[in-house]
Order: sequence, then structure tokens, then C-alpha cells
Amino acid sequence: MKEKVVLAYSGGLDTSVAVHWLSEAKGYDVIALSLDVGQADTDFGAIKERALQAGAVEVVVKDAKEEMAEEYVLPSLLANALYEGKYPLVSALSRPLIVSHLISTAKEFSASAVAHGCTGKGNDQVRFEVGALGLDPYIDVIAPVREWNMTREDSIRYAKEHNLAITASKDRIYSIDENLWGRAIECGILEDPWSEPPVDVFSYTANDGTRLETEVVIAFEEGVPKSVNGREMSLVDLINELNVLAGSCGFGRIDMVESRRVGIKSREVYECPAALALILAHQDLEALTLERDLLHEKLRLEPRFADLVYDGLWFSPLREALSAFMTSTQKYVTGEVKMRFGPGPVGKVTGRRSEVGLYDYNLATYDEADSFNHEDAKGFVRIFGLGIATWAKRQTVPKGK
Ligand code: ARG
Repeated sequence: MKEKVVLAYSGGLDTSVAVHWLSEAKGYDVIALSLDVGQADTDFGAIKERALQAGAVEVVVKDAKEEMAEEYVLPSLLANALYEGKYPLVSALSRPLIVSHLISTAKEFSASAVAHGCTGKGNDQVRFEVGALGLDPYIDVIAPVREWNMTREDSIRYAKEHNLAITASKDRIYSIDENLWGRAIECGILEDPWSEPPVDVFSYTANDGTRLETEVVIAFEEGVPKSVNGREMSLVDLINELNVLAGSCGFGRIDMVESRRVGIKSREVYECPAALALILAHQDLEALTLERDLLHEKLRLEPRFADLVYDGLWFSPLREALSAFMTSTQKYVTGEVKMRFGPGPVGKVTGRRSEVGLYDYNLATYDEADSFNHEDAKGFVRIFGLGIATWAKRQTVPKGK
């Protein structure tokens, strides 16, 4: 009996060649696994056909949108996770989800190995393999693209020679990865960090969005977004709704030079309208509802969370502990945030309110309603500054010198 391998299959060139290569060159029975994580316009029927045609013995297609939203996107939103302050971890969030399905599918089919189609230069190989180590340290992980040493042209030739159906579209110039939380675009002209991204690389965000303006009110309960403009919806629907609302104004683009885990700086272009809108709104509501020390500590830990997830350490004790912390901070993050998108690629918070907000008008106002005790401030400031005064008197500005 042949050994079995479960391959994370996207339907693209590399993973189609990988199906064939794993079965022909490596002698495996290949089970192709394709997950719906909210990538737009994907024909899973066609993907299934392509995998079978490339030689897969079995194709497993699963709708993982809700799991993606609830188990991966939400913890990341609670942590306001932005890698290097900018990137909402789009691909870094789907990889651990895919890994967990690779491992469970491998168990189901008694496969001895899992495989992915990543190259040796990116973060995704790290996420797949470290993720697999975290869930099943005994399983073999195969990275065909890293092993076979083919250039892109070689892969195309291989596909032609073996009559593999490959897609002919934009993704042959650009390497695109997408899910609910956004879309990553790499390669082609974008590899020149000086070149402005051509308008045709975008699909979640409108190029003519400058004419539009949209106002939305997002309601959160304990940190979880629950409704848009008063309409309650599931997290998947809410994210899709904001992708359309904010994206149609042109909001949500990111153009950055990013520091990959493997030591390479790369130029990355993303479009993440819902992710950026929700993070902005959530941060704003936290500013209103979180006590100062708690807020500051959370702000200190958020980049740590983003780094861990970016580096493929989703399944790690520290990421889990940080998530427990993030969740525990959310008890009173309940309220509404008003945002305006456009005209142009702008998106901003224009108002916020919460029944449990810590903003107290009578304390904050300079008007008559002021209830702040000004007398108390005098003693507080003197004691707060006592150490500084002592330092200055004794060491830096002693009297009479
Ligand atoms: N640089 C991003 C990251 O590491 C995006 C990766 C996108 N993957 C792709 N195959 N195009 O998360």
C-alpha cells in the first residue's frame, strides 16, 4: 500500500504541479485539501476537478469561513494585531487554520505526511511547518516547491508536459493570497519598491472610490463586533459587509516594505478594508472603556502578539496566554463607534459611545458642570513632583551655586 499525504491545495500552478510530483516522483497517494476561508470568486468545483486531473486520489473541500472568523480573526482583532504597525496578518491567520485541517485530515485518512506549496523564501513555509510541529510533532511535512528546485518557467513546462490544467489569469503575474481578512498581492512590478502599484492589482478596494463617502456605526459587545448600522449579523457577514462598504470608497490599501521572518525585506501590497476599519474602531472603543493601566499594558503586548502570529507561532503557549489576557480585557469593551470612509482612501472614527465608558463629562468639562476638585490637584502635583524637585535641588540646581 502506498503512503498517503495530505496537500494544502489552492488550485494554483505550484500546488497542481505538487499533486503530480508527490504522486509520480514520491510515490504517494495524494489527498488534496482545499478550504474556503473567504477568498473571493473561487470555484471549488473547478479546483476539485483540477486536483483530480493532476492525480489526486481524493479531494476534500471544506467551508472554513466561520472557523476562520471566530477562531483566528477574532482573537487577532481583540489584540488589534498589526505586524510592524501596519499589516493585519491576513495570510498569517489562515495558515494555522489550514494546518489544523491538514493534521485532522491526515488523521482521518491515516496519512503519514502533510504537504504545502510554499517556497523557501517566505513566511508561509515557517507557519505551515512550525504550526504542524505544534499540533503533531511526529508527522512528516513535505515542501515540494522547496525540494524540486524548479523556476516558475520550469513549473509551467512541467504542467504542460503532464497535461495539468493551470489557470491563466492575473495570479500568474502576481502571487495573491486572500481570505476574509484581506488580500495580499506580491511579485511582478511590485517587486520594485519604488514603483507605485498599478491599479489593476486591486479588487477589494475601488479605484474610483474618491467620489464616495459612507458613514457606518459599528456596535461591539465585549470586544466582538455585532452589528453594522443597527443590523445584527454573523462575524463572517459583518466582515464581508465592511469589506464592501469601506472598500467601495477606496479605503483599506496598504503599501509597505515588510521584514520577513527569514531575513528578507519584501515589498507588500494589501487591501484589507474590513480589517483596518474594525481594528480602528475597536482601538477607539478600548480607549473609551479600558482603565489606563490595563489599556497601557494591552498596548505594550499587542505588537508581541502580532509578531508571534506573523512568525508562525499561533500554536504556542505564549500566543495562547496572550489571547487569554486579551480576552480578559474585553469585559467592558461594549459600545458603538461611528466611522466615515471617503472621500478618497480615508477612513476615520468620528464618534464613540458606551454605557460603560470611562469618559465622565462632569470630570472632563471646563464648563460649569465641572465636578473635579481643583484643590486636590495641588497636593497631588506637589507629591508627584517631589522626587524631581529633590533631584533638582540636590544635584542639578543647588541653591547658591
Ligand atoms: N507577506 C505576507 C505574509 O507573510 C503575505 C504572504 C502572502 N502569501 C502569498 N503566497 N502570496 O503574511
